[in-house]
Amino acid sequence: MEKKAIPYGRQHITPDDINAVIETLQSDFLTQGPKILEFEKVFADYIGCKYAVAVANGTAALHLNALVLGVKPGHKVITTPITFAASANCVRYCGGEVIFADIDPESYLLDIHAVRKLLESSPKGTYQGIIPVDFAGRAVDLEAFRSLADEFGCWIIEDSCHSPGGYFIDSNGNKQRCGNGNFADLAIFSFHPVKHIATGEGGMITTNNQELYQKLLTLRTHGIVKNDGLYQNSVDFAIGAPLGKSEQSTVFSEPLTAHRSPFTAYPLWYMEMQDLGYNYRITDLQAALGLSQLQRAEEGLLRRIEIASRYQKAFNGLDFIKHQSGVIEGHAYHLYILEVENRLELYNHLRKKQIFTQIHYIPIHLMPYYRQFGWKVGDMPYAENYYKHCISLPMYPTLSNEDQDFVIKQIQNFYEA
Ligand SMILES: Cc1ncc(COP(=O)(O)O)c(C=O)c1O
Repeated sequence: MEKKAIPYGRQHITPDDINAVIETLQSDFLTQGPKILEFEKVFADYIGCKYAVAVANGTAALHLNALVLGVKPGHKVITTPITFAASANCVRYCGGEVIFADIDPESYLLDIHAVRKLLESSPKGTYQGIIPVDFAGRAVDLEAFRSLADEFGCWIIEDSCHSPGGYFIDSNGNKQRCGNGNFADLAIFSFHPVKHIATGEGGMITTNNQELYQKLLTLRTHGIVKNDGLYQNSVDFAIGAPLGKSEQSTVFSEPLTAHRSPFTAYPLWYMEMQDLGYNYRITDLQAALGLSQLQRAEEGLLRRIEIASRYQKAFNGLDFIKHQSGVIEGHAYHLYILEVENRLELYNHLRKKQIFTQIHYIPIHLMPYYRQFGWKVGDMPYAENYYKHCISLPMYPTLSNEDQDFVIKQIQNFYEA
C-alpha cells in the first residue's frame, strides 16, 4: 500500500465542527447573523483584548487596518521580508510605500535594531508605521517595538496570523499574548486551513482602541453606518418627506431643529454609506466553525509544542543543521523550521517519500513586484541567507508520533547516506 502523504500543515475537523456548521445551515442566518458576534467575543476573550472584528480573510484584515490607520500615497511603512506577501501588500493597497528591514538571523523576526537604524537615519515623521510579524508562531517583543514606535510617532500593526496563543514575557515578567492590543494598535489573524484555527477562509482583527474598532465595523460593510446618533442626512430626507428649502441642497450636519417637520425619528430601514468600504464580512457558517475550533485551541497548541520538542530532540547538535526553531517559551509553532545544507535535494528527497515540506518564505523584497521599486539581491543579507537554507517540516496537531518519526528518519537517512 502506498504511504499516505504527510503535508507540512493541515486542518483538523471534528464531528462537533461539522455539527456546528450544519446547525448554522439550518438556522435563519447564513451571514450577518449571531454567530459572528459570538465568535468575535470568544476570540477576544481567548486573545485577551477588548475588541475583535471577524472578516473574510487575513488579507482583508490587513487592508482594513491600513485603511483605518490612514495609510496613503507618500506614507512609508516598515516590515520584514520574511513573511507572507500580504503583510506588505496592505500598504500598497492604500498607495503607501513598503520599506523592508532585515530579520534577526536567530529568531527570524523583524530585527528591531535594523528598524531603529532606519528610523534614526531620516527626519522624524518620515515613517508612519511598523508591521512586525509573529513569524512561524514566535512572538515579537512588542513592548520594545512600542517604545521605539512612540519615539518616532509610528503606529504598529501586529501580524499574528501564525501565533494565536503565543506570547512574549514583558519587562515586568508578565505574559503578553499575541494580538492582545496592549502594545500594537491593531493585530490580525488568519483562519486559512493550515493555521491554528481553520474556517476555510477567514480572519480576525483585534484591538483595544474603541475608535479604530468602530471604523473597522463600518469599513467591513461598505462604509455603511446604521446608528441614529451618527447620521448626517436629516430625518426628513430619510423619511422621504417634502424637503424644506435648505434641505434641497447638501444637508450634512444640519441641526434637526432647523426643520419644522413632525418627524423626529429615522425610519427603521434607514442607513447611510458614509465612507468607501468593502464587503469583507465572514459568514455565519465560518464563524460557527471558528467557534467550535476555538474550543480546541489550547489542546492544539500543546500538541504543536510537543511536536516541536520532539523535532528539537531529534536534530539537536547534528552537523547538517545550521539552525532550528528550537523550543522557545511562548512560541505557538505554526511552523517548525530547520536551516540545512543541500535544502533543494532534501526537499526533493522528502517529496519522493510523500513528505511535503514547504519553504517559508521567499523574501518579499525580491518578488518581481517589489523589485520594480528598486529592491535587489544583497539588500537584506540575513533574510536572503535564511531563504537559502530554510525548510518547514510537517507541523499540525493531528500529525502522529509515528508519522513524525518517519519524517525525522527520512531526514537523517538523507544526510547519513
Ligand atoms: C503572516 C501572514 N500574514 C497574512 C496572511 C494572509 O492571510 P489570508 O490567507 O487569510 O488572507 C497570511 C496567510 O498565509 C500569513 O501567513
